Amino acid sequence: MSKTHNIAVIPGDGIGPEVLREGLRVLDKAAALDGGFSFHFTSFPWGCGFYKEHGQMMAEDGIEQLQFFDAIYLGAVGYPGVPDHISLWDLLLKIRKSFDQYVNLRPVKLLEGAPSPLVEEKRNIDMLVIRENSEGEYAGAGDRLYRGQPEEVALQTGVFSRKGTERIIRHAFEQGRRYGKSVTSISKGNALQYSMVFWDEVFAEVAEEYPDVPSYSYLVDAASMFFVLDPGRFEIVVTSNLFGDIVTDLGAGLAGGLGLAAGANINPSRKYPSMFEPVHGSAPDIAGKGTANPLAAVWSASQMLDFLGEEKWGSAVLRAMEEVMTAGSPLTPDMKGNATTEDVGIAVAEALQKPGAHER
Ligand code: NAD
Ligand code: IPM
Ligand code: MN
Repeated sequence: MSKTHNIAVIPGDGIGPEVLREGLRVLDKAAALDGGFSFHFTSFPWGCGFYKEHGQMMAEDGIEQLQFFDAIYLGAVGYPGVPDHISLWDLLLKIRKSFDQYVNLRPVKLLEGAPSPLVEEKRNIDMLVIRENSEGEYAGAGDRLYRGQPEEVALQTGVFSRKGTERIIRHAFEQGRRYGKSVTSISKGNALQYSMVFWDEVFAEVAEEYPDVPSYSYLVDAASMFFVLDPGRFEIVVTSNLFGDIVTDLGAGLAGGLGLAAGANINPSRKYPSMFEPVHGSAPDIAGKGTANPLAAVWSASQMLDFLGEEKWGSAVLRAMEEVMTAGSPLTPDMKGNATTEDVGIAVAEALQKPGAHER
């Protein structure tokens, strides 16, 4: 009997709907080729357009509506006309936090055929950044005092709990053990003497429980330099919410650009749905032109396939992407091509082959 994966789809704003359409095309193609599973997609019209009409970013009971899906597939959130801190906090961050998606998995891996500005280190870019996704610098704790007055003060407090810090670091070591990879912590204990010294202490404690997993610790400034000069030294990287946000855009720049970078927001206990989305935003500068690169959304779909237990198809999607990139066409302008979003989606769907026919 064929099983059905129930997926909530939130196309969102700007290029979100454009790139997600291609990800859905590839998912449907995988299901059709397999024959053993299918997708049931339910689309939600939430985002900045919805806000303009209803004064809120999602339905009042939006979180309840989402909670029984097997996964959430999201495009991007944010558009000029709605302040970013409202659009993001009331939709994307609300979902990540409500569903305790505390692990943000962001591969920084140079796929075959993908462009990179690095020449010498090109083949040595293969890391998995595990970003803390529930608290830290993005906990949302703070205040604005004396608004508009000369003595105005803004406070934004980092929140690093033992539970939150330990679980993300432990998750990284579990992955290190599972895949035989080293784990590197990125922090900033020299300047942030409370939060990051605590982070470093927890990292050292947890590392002791995994003597079989090589571990390293870097300050974020130096780590950023080594991302560029010697990316091969990083395998699994674990870092805080803010640093993870920044170094994964840097990583995206090294491994094909933002049009290719994918991310998964995981609730490891599976009590709540996990969410899959490109790392990039709504790209208002190119929205509506049909030229956005859908490969990041397609890679996120591959991560979703892995999560749903269809790992062979997750890998097959990456191979199909590599085939298109290696052929050099069709590719969107960010990858020096002149194809449309749709051309690329169709090409990846066509390149997709049933696993087994074409194993590497
Ligand atoms: P952005 O990622 O949207 O765009 C940065 C640059 O990369 C732009 O020049 C854009 O054209 C380019 N780019 C991004 N994705 C691309 C793709 N698929 N193909 C080709 N080029 C691509 O970041 P931004 O401009 O800083 O933010 C725009 C909006 O998106 C803001 O409202 C921001 O808050 C929001 N945002 C949302 C998310 C999210 O939903 N996960 C992530 C980042 C930013
Ligand atoms: C990302 C985005 C978000 C984040 C923003 C839009 C809140 O930049 O997913 O990288 O920092 O988490
Ligand atoms: Mn970001």
